[in-house]
Amino acid sequence: MDRNAPVGVFDSGVGGLTVAREIIRQIPEERIVYFGDTARLPYGSKSKDTIIRYSRQIIRFLKTMDVKAIVIACNTASAYALESVRAEADIPVIGVINAGARTAVHATQNGRIGVIGTEGTIGSGIYTEVMRKLKPDIEVFGKSCPLFVPLVEEGLLHDSVTDEIASRYLSVLKGRYIDTLVLGCTHYPLLRSTIRRLMGEGVTLVNPAYETALELRELLKSRNMGRDETAPLSGEKYQFFVSDLAEKFTDFAAAILPGEVKETRQISVEEY
Ligand code: DGL
Repeated sequence: MDRNAPVGVFDSGVGGLTVAREIIRQIPEERIVYFGDTARLPYGSKSKDTIIRYSRQIIRFLKTMDVKAIVIACNTASAYALESVRAEADIPVIGVINAGARTAVHATQNGRIGVIGTEGTIGSGIYTEVMRKLKPDIEVFGKSCPLFVPLVEEGLLHDSVTDEIASRYLSVLKGRYIDTLVLGCTHYPLLRSTIRRLMGEGVTLVNPAYETALELRELLKSRNMGRDETAPLSGEKYQFFVSDLAEKFTDFAAAILPGEVKETRQISVEEY
């Protein structure tokens, strides 16, 4: 395995850029090949079988780019597909759920944790399962927030409509006296300030994107797979691919990533 090969990162669309952003912050020497499945999103309302099929196709595409490891930067795909694709892969594959769940279990003082995510992620019960394995007496309260993704995609990050919807979703969790809340969907860190204001300072917000970047850093280090910073770069350090609407993706990526996003290429992921 070439330690200077890029890391593959994928999501249903732009949301996984919050994970890519953390990887760039925590391990700036690494190269990234990012794929956003913009033609087939949202994943949050699709079935497990469909998400596994999509994930397999994307992994086959990423392998053609000679990636050395893969990060499933999507909570729904991590919930539904990680187990299957990891068993089939000959390179390390990590998702966003384990890191987020672990951090929340360590953070809570009163043992009451909230998780917000898509219908798929919350319906799968995966966060509860992983957290209970770590601490059996933990109480986990899930709440799906299906309107958050379109609000973020529309750029309504600081808007009265977003405030109103967030307030309705989160009131259910406020009544549960949680002290820790997992932002269990790639888009939600972009609504962090709204969620912070509504939940109050007493609730610790866990961003699995950040924890996942740290997990990736540890994984590469432990396997001696970290990129040699002095190795010459052949081509772009960060490459972006989507299944549709490349220009729209480039604009979004440029707004949330540090540094320049030059171009996004469109591919036919169904062919893989
Ligand atoms: N990336 C998805 C997730 O983290 C949210 C967007 C979607 O539903 O496709 O669950």
